[in-house]
Amino acid sequence: MAAFREQFAKAKHIVVLTGAGVSAESGVPTFRGAGGFWRKYQAQDLATPEAFKRNPSLVWEFYHYRREVMLSKTPNPAHIAIAECEKRLAAQGRRIVVITQNIDELHERAGSKNILELHGNLFTTRCTKCKDVKVNKDSPICPALSGKGLPDADAPDARIPESELPRCMQQGCNGLLRPMLFGLENLWILRSWQKLIMNWKTVGTSSVVYPAAMFAPQVAARGVPVAEFNMEHTPVTHSLGFHFQGPAGVNVPIALAAHESEKLK
Ligand SMILES: NC(=O)c1ccc[n+]([C@@H]2O[C@H](COP(=O)([O-])OP(=O)(O)OC[C@H]3O[C@@H](n4cnc5c(N)ncnc54)[C@H](O)[C@@H]3O)[C@@H](O)[C@H]2O)c1
Ligand SMILES: [Zn+2]
Repeated sequence: MAAFREQFAKAKHIVVLTGAGVSAESGVPTFRGAGGFWRKYQAQDLATPEAFKRNPSLVWEFYHYRREVMLSKTPNPAHIAIAECEKRLAAQGRRIVVITQNIDELHERAGSKNILELHGNLFTTRCTKCKDVKVNKDSPICPALSGKGLPDADAPDARIPESELPRCMQQGCNGLLRPMLFGLENLWILRSWQKLIMNWKTVGTSSVVYPAAMFAPQVAARGVPVAEFNMEHTPVTHSLGFHFQGPAGVNVPIALAAHESEKLK
């Protein structure tokens, strides 16, 4: 940890790449593991354009459930440490960007400013007809979803007709809205940011969801210091310089706390 903090204190441009693990201690279940099921479905099988095409009512129920759950969750010490570090470093002319695979907005709510959401977020909708993208925090997002979306394995499929699912409010459109889904929504971001990456650390991602998974080993191979914070070893741990095993809410605040040399500046 001391060696990491020493290196970190010298870094001017820092990327924090986060996945589901950074929000686990806020009570948001990760996809892999016990929390990964909704009804009898694997969460990652429902968050796709194919699943939406097959059964938009079911996918909306799943998103409705997660939107409502998020309203009761709050940022944990890892989100807060990252946000506070961004603010502190800004005053020193140093910069942090958070690239997150998460869709829960907890980085934003913790106060991070410089955030790129690779998969959009739970509160962003896209019109399947006119492609309009909007932030929508209505609870419920439409009357037909009220009381629906129960996660229990035996909960019935609500089979809501498309006309009663969330619809586009753009004048004259009324197209079916869909949530932001896994796939290619925001991945253009990676291309532009990859060029700017000077320093890189990674927090709580299992490094198995591509394309985000490949970045940490890639930058590490270029000699950039990379630290991984995870409960366990991942497929890329061996190729990274630092690995801090344990809860992000414990290790990230220690890692990002002000270094002695900063106080001298
Ligand atoms: N909160 C959310 O928005 C949310 C929740 C679930 C999944 N997802 C998305 O689904 C995809 C799944 O990929 P993924 O690799 O991020 O998630 P994942 O569920 O595959 O893996 C989570 C990783 O976090 C680690 N982890 C769990 N608890 C931790 C803790 N307290 N501290 C540190 N590490 C911890 C696990 O060991 C695991 O390696 C991603 O795109 C992810 O963003 C998002
Ligand atoms: Zn529209």
